[in-house]
Amino acid sequence: MGAETAARIVALPGDGIGPEIIAAARELLDAIGSFEVTEQIVGGASIDEHGTALTDEVLDACRAADAVLLGAVGGPKWETTDPDKPRPEQGLLGLRSGLELYANLRPVRPSPSLGAASPLRPEVISGTDLLVVRELTGGIYFGDSGRSGDRAHDTCEYSVAEIDRIARTAFDAARRRVDPDRPAAHGADSQGPLVTSVDKANVMETSRLWREVVTGVASDYADVTLEHMLADNTAMQLVANPARFDVLVADNLFGDILSDESAMLTGSLGMLPSASLGDAGPGLFEPVHGSAPDIAGTGVANPLAMFLSVALMFRHGLGRPEDGDRVEAAVEAALERGLRTPDLAADEGQRPPRSDLPAEVEVGTAEMTTAVIEALN
Ligand code: NAD
Ligand code: IPM
Ligand code: MN
Repeated sequence: MGAETAARIVALPGDGIGPEIIAAARELLDAIGSFEVTEQIVGGASIDEHGTALTDEVLDACRAADAVLLGAVGGPKWETTDPDKPRPEQGLLGLRSGLELYANLRPVRPSPSLGAASPLRPEVISGTDLLVVRELTGGIYFGDSGRSGDRAHDTCEYSVAEIDRIARTAFDAARRRVDPDRPAAHGADSQGPLVTSVDKANVMETSRLWREVVTGVASDYADVTLEHMLADNTAMQLVANPARFDVLVADNLFGDILSDESAMLTGSLGMLPSASLGDAGPGLFEPVHGSAPDIAGTGVANPLAMFLSVALMFRHGLGRPEDGDRVEAAVEAALERGLRTPDLAADEGQRPPRSDLPAEVEVGTAEMTTAVIEALN
């Protein structure tokens, strides 16, 4: 970095495998350059310490940073159905709303080396390269909710302004993704960039407003094809024909569900990164997966979604796209060598081993981290 001041990164390990993958990310960062990394607590760890999942001090520290990296929050220790008890997930939602991170980008680009890791047939996944753009600070996640007597409610609300800005994020992303070397997604007979807007306009009023506003925004993007797709059909098309998609734009809840589904196109939830961005201030970069309590502490967590989130941080948060490319290439190189955390192991018995690929070697978090660092160029 020479004379430049080091970028200030707040790292939030959180719970479960969060601290394990944040430690791996810090090793990776150390290998790339000099950064001012400060760790803060959030989620269940913060509930244990302060009785709340996100303190004002931690939110202020994040606001003052250039970028925020998060592991994951949550776990059985804090699971409760009591509405008056604090929950770790409130920490994450508080960060998203507190930093006004309304746009969540979840790129799904299956690695060519991982064809055998997905439960889907390689010919179904072939050509898949899509981006889920999820609205992150509105909808049913942030509407009025509560209990009275034997009833409970969660309210889904969207304003024109909230839909307009996330639609523009999606159309702008579709334009930026145009790449002469990549075949166009073939949905809706589009030849160029394609935005698929996901809703339940056949049922929900918020969806009908969503559809109206997205259609209006599309008139500013004549070069981008827009199609509307009902959320249930989208869930089906994502596994039947994922290569038909380019950019999907969805509300907070549909985007959450469809992105976990999309993760399996890559072979594992442990592969999917995300970037949460607003109009100003630091972005939040975190894997799509959770705290994986079932494997926490066993040293086998896949750190690659975290590393790919670091790559997104370089590209979208720190203005260092070439370091983002380096990290992504190093991840690919480790996979090409056949290294696999257990979640990525080929589905034995479903497919014969491919003689053109190196034998798979099962590794833990530490070995995968070392391999990625060694592959940096
Ligand atoms: P999860 O994503 O934690 O785990 C689902 C499955 O995927 C598990 O079998 C897990 O072992 C596996 N998995 C996830 N990440 C992995 C990785 N990096 N390497 C290997 N395997 C991995 O989802 P869940 O079990 O439904 O949720 C557990 C907790 O995490 C809950 O408290 C939930 O609220 C929370 N959560 C947090 C975030 C976040 O912090 N961003 C996201 C999702 C869920
Ligand atoms: C995600 C997670 C969160 C969400 C939870 C942990 C609040 O599932 O980031 O996808 O639902 O947004
Ligand atoms: Mn989720």
